[in-house]
Order: sequence, then structure tokens, then C-alpha cells
Amino acid sequence: MPQQQLGLGVAITGCGSAVPSTALDNEGLSQVVETSDEWISSRTGILRRRLADPQTPLRAIAATAAQQALEMAGITPLDVDLIILATSTPDDLFGTASQIQASLGASSAVAFDLTAACSGFVFGLVTASQFIRTGAYSTVLLIGADILSRWVDWSDRRTCVLFGDGAGAVVLQAHTSDRLLGFELRSDGSQNELLNLAYQPEPKALTDTVTIGQGTFHPITMNGQEVYRFAVKRVPEVIEKALFRANLTVNQVDWLLLHQANQRILDAVAQRLSIPSHKVLSNMADHGNTSAASIPLALDEAVRQGKIQPGDVIASAGFGAGLTWGAAIFQWGR
Ligand code: UT7
Repeated sequence: MPQQQLGLGVAITGCGSAVPSTALDNEGLSQVVETSDEWISSRTGILRRRLADPQTPLRAIAATAAQQALEMAGITPLDVDLIILATSTPDDLFGTASQIQASLGASSAVAFDLTAACSGFVFGLVTASQFIRTGAYSTVLLIGADILSRWVDWSDRRTCVLFGDGAGAVVLQAHTSDRLLGFELRSDGSQNELLNLAYQPEPKALTDTVTIGQGTFHPITMNGQEVYRFAVKRVPEVIEKALFRANLTVNQVDWLLLHQANQRILDAVAQRLSIPSHKVLSNMADHGNTSAASIPLALDEAVRQGKIQPGDVIASAGFGAGLTWGAAIFQWGR
């Protein structure tokens, strides 16, 4: 049965985004590590990225993006039933969504974090939709936000040039027809070592017989070439699967909205799917890879620029650590 026939309908009725004010361009980065604007721009398409200052918590940019999304949807924080924060860089490992709930004044909403790295927004979109389709909640605020600059090894030129900080948000509401047309989510933990930000325990003896591990999270490590290969192979597959579930063909896609990891990945995926470049949304040049924020940030920019119009069919896909990857096909607006 096509996925849109299950339960109640979901519409994405608002979006918003926020990035830190400080920008670092490739020229500036070449003062940090041995690199060049030529290498970064030709290999990734990135020209600059925004970086959060030490005083800016994740919840601050997340809340700003959320407020914009609520405004566009024409609702107040009190209308929100559920807040999902997709992030890998919370202010608090116990979760940051509740702090956003408090700062927004969304006192009726239950709030929790969801971690699926750069796939977090797509996983969150599908998760949020299930609560609406079952009738459990009618209004969900989904935020994708990350401050990976806090977890990058700034001496590793293979990774530090890629990432930027930011937040994006959408409002999902119950609707008579279902705008989430199809999805496909995947995980493969056997390849976890290709990209991680792992906790490294240091043994600490509490008594003669009891030793626990107390350490820290170590900065991001990535096998770039393998992750690149994985993305170019797996992302078209899940998009095709999700389109099949939506009963749509590639020609009916108005916009390809991929996780903004590398312009070459966007181009290769579009080429494999025969989607022309004018349908590919990219804000990589200005923001780099903002992890869970990258899809809603690019969505928000394209909506506010008037590119995406109500009813447009968007094929979105996230991919990254876990490994995780997934696609969601949705129509923008009510
Ligand atoms: O959001 C999570 C998902 N992440 C991704 O999707 C990332 C996927 N991977 C990629 O986007 C690409 O693999 C990278 C952009 C990370 C790297 O591009 P690449 O074309 O695969 O480069 P490479 O790793 O094969 O490195 C080529 C050369 C190496 O030099 P040698 O060994 O050939 O002499 C690197 O040492 O480029 C060198 N290099 C650099 N040179 C200048 C690596 N990083 C840099 C740098 N500046 N920043």
C-alpha cells in the first residue's frame, strides 16, 4: 500500500533557519591548517562556513530557527504538541530539546532529542509524521541543529574544512491530504568506523575491585573516500525506493534536496538519477556541511528566495555517520 494511504495526513507548513554571525572563508582556514581555497572549493564546493562563538549554545540558534518556522506556519508555541531536536551536538547529553521547549514557551509540548548524525533531519521528519498519522499529535516542531565546530579536530585538514554550524526547523501539521509521499530509512552499523565522534573511556579505579570508564568524546574522524563512495551509491537507491513508494517518477521531482556534504556528491547523485542541475538545491558554498541542520537550512533559504513553491515535490535525502541514510519525498506547503 502506498505510504500516503496510512492514517491521517501530514503537511509541512512552516520553516526557519539560523546561523551564527561569524563566517570563516577558505582563505581564513588556510591560516589554521595547510590547505587552500583552490583545494577546498574544487573538491567540495565550499567557500565559507559560519562558526558559533563560545557563548552561543546550540539551543539559541535552534530556538531562533524554530520561532521563524512557527511564524511562517501562523501558529504560536502553545499550539505545539511535540518538539523533536535532531542533533549530534547537544548542549547537554541528557538532551537539549526540553530547554528549547522552555525558551520558546511551548509549555504543552513534549520534547526530546533524536540522534542520527547527518541523517537526523530526515529521520526526524519521518518520526514526527508517524505521531501525526496515528492521530497522537497534530502539530510537531522538528529542528535540525548542529555545532560541529566544537567537535572537529582543527588540526586535521581532511575534516575541519568541511563543517559549519547552523540550525533549521520545520512545522508539521495534521492535514486532510498527506504531503509526506514516501520514505526509506536505512542503517548499517557495521561501517560505523568510517565516520565517528566516539566516546573514549579512560579506566578509573573506584575500589580495588571496581573500575569504571571515565573519558571524553574524541573529535570527528572520517574516511572521506569511503564515505563519499557510500553516499554516491546508497543515496540514489533510497531516493528511488522512496519515489517508488510515493508512486512517482524522477521526472515528477521539482527539487533534489540532499544533505549538503560535498557539491561533488550532489552532482553525482543528481546525475545517477538523471535530475538536471537546475533542480538541485545547494547552499554548500556559504555554509559547508552543517550536519542535521543542512537540509532544513537549504529548504528555508530556497522557500524564502521564492524558489520552492507550494505543491512542489521535494526529494530529500540525508546520509552520514552511523552509518545512516534515508530519503523522504514530500510536497511543500498546505
Ligand atoms: O556529512 C557526513 C558525510 N560526509 C561526507 O559525505 C564526506 C565524503 N567525502 C568527501 O566529501 C571527500 O572524500 C573529501 C572532501 C573529504 C576529500 O576529497 P577527496 O577528493 O576524496 O580527497 P582525498 O581524501 O583523496 O585527498 C586527496 C589529497 C590527499 O593528498 P595526497 O595523499 O594525494 O598527496 C590529501 O592529503 O588531498 C589532500 N588533502 C588536502 N589538501 C589540501 C586532504 N584534505 C586537504 C585539504 N587541503 N583540506
